[in-house]
Amino acid sequence: MAKLTVLTLMGLGLALFRDHRSSYEERLNAFREVKPVELPNCNFVKGVEAGSEDIEILPNGLAFISSGLKYPGIKSFEPDKPGKILLMDLNEEDPAVLELKITGSKSDLSSFNPHGISTFTDEDNAVYLLVVNHPDFKSTVEVFKFQEEEKSLLHLKTIRHKLLPSLNDIVAVGPEHFYATNDHYFIDPYLRSWEMYLGLAWSYVVYYSPNEVRVAAEGFDFANGINISPDGKYVYISELLAHKIHVYEKHANWTLTLLKVLRIQNILTEEPKVKLVYAENGTVLQGCSVASVYKGKLLIGTVYHKALYCEL
Ligand SMILES: *[C@@H]1O[C@H](CO)[C@@H](O)[C@H](O)[C@H]1NC(C)=O
Repeated sequence: MAKLTVLTLMGLGLALFRDHRSSYEERLNAFREVKPVELPNCNFVKGVEAGSEDIEILPNGLAFISSGLKYPGIKSFEPDKPGKILLMDLNEEDPAVLELKITGSKSDLSSFNPHGISTFTDEDNAVYLLVVNHPDFKSTVEVFKFQEEEKSLLHLKTIRHKLLPSLNDIVAVGPEHFYATNDHYFIDPYLRSWEMYLGLAWSYVVYYSPNEVRVAAEGFDFANGINISPDGKYVYISELLAHKIHVYEKHANWTLTLLKVLRIQNILTEEPKVKLVYAENGTVLQGCSVASVYKGKLLIGTVYHKALYCEL
C-alpha cells in the first residue's frame, strides 16, 4: 500500500513536471514554425558580426547599435572581446558602421557588456546615450554624452541601484532619468532559472531619477523591451514569455497606468491583428531582438548575430 502511494505520488509528480514542461516550451515558443515573409532588398550591415541587440535611431538618421552582448545561456561569437557601441548613418547609400570611442572616466572598458540602449536629446540638442551594462554579469546603467564631431561617447556616470538588479532594456526620459525593465527578480543564476521555469512572473519595471526610484509596473513573465510613444504619453512594455505588449499611460508624476494589453495573435492567418513584414527561420538572421524604421527602411538587430537592413 505504501509502495503504491509512493508510486502514485511519483506518477503525479512526473505528470505535473511534463505538464509544466510543455507550458514552459509554449511560453518559449520553442516549437513554433516560421514561414518566411521576404522583403525585396535586404543587405547585411557590414561590420556587425557579434550582435546588434538594441538599436536606437535619432530623428536625423544616425543609428546607435549595441553589440557584443554576453548573457548567461546565450551564444557569443566574440566571448573574449568587450562589447561596443556602433554608429551608422542611415542617410548614406550603403551605410557601414563605425565603433564609437569611449572617453572620460570610464576605466573598466574591458568588462563593457552593453545590452538595451536609449537616447535623450535635451533642449540644447545635446544627445545622451543611456546604456544597460553587465560588467561581470551585474547590472548598471552608463550615461554617455554623444560627441558627433569626435565620433565618441563621453562617459558621465555609472548608475547602480538595488531596484535595478537584472536590467534588460531602458527608455530615457531625461539625461539621468529612465524607465527600465528587470527581466528577472533574482540575481542568483540558480534562483533565476527556477523563477523563469516556474513562471513566477516577478519581473518588473522601474522608474529611475536622481531624486526618486520606484517600481512603476510589476508582475511580468520576463519584461523585455520598453519604449515610449513619440509624443511621450504612452509607455510600451513587451512581456516576452506571455507574448504580450502592455500599453501604459504615463502621468506627469511619472507613474504608469495600464491602458491595454495587446496579445499578438493570428499573425500568420488571413486576418492578422498585426502585419508581419519580415520573417525568416534562422538561415539569414539568428536571435532577432529589435527592429527600427527610418524613411521606409527597416533595420533589424540580433542578440549575438548580424544585422539586416531592408527596404520596406
Ligand atoms: C500620479 O498622478 C496620477 C494621475 O494624475 C494620480 O492618479 C496618482 O495618484 C498620482 N500618484 C502619485 C504617487 O502621486
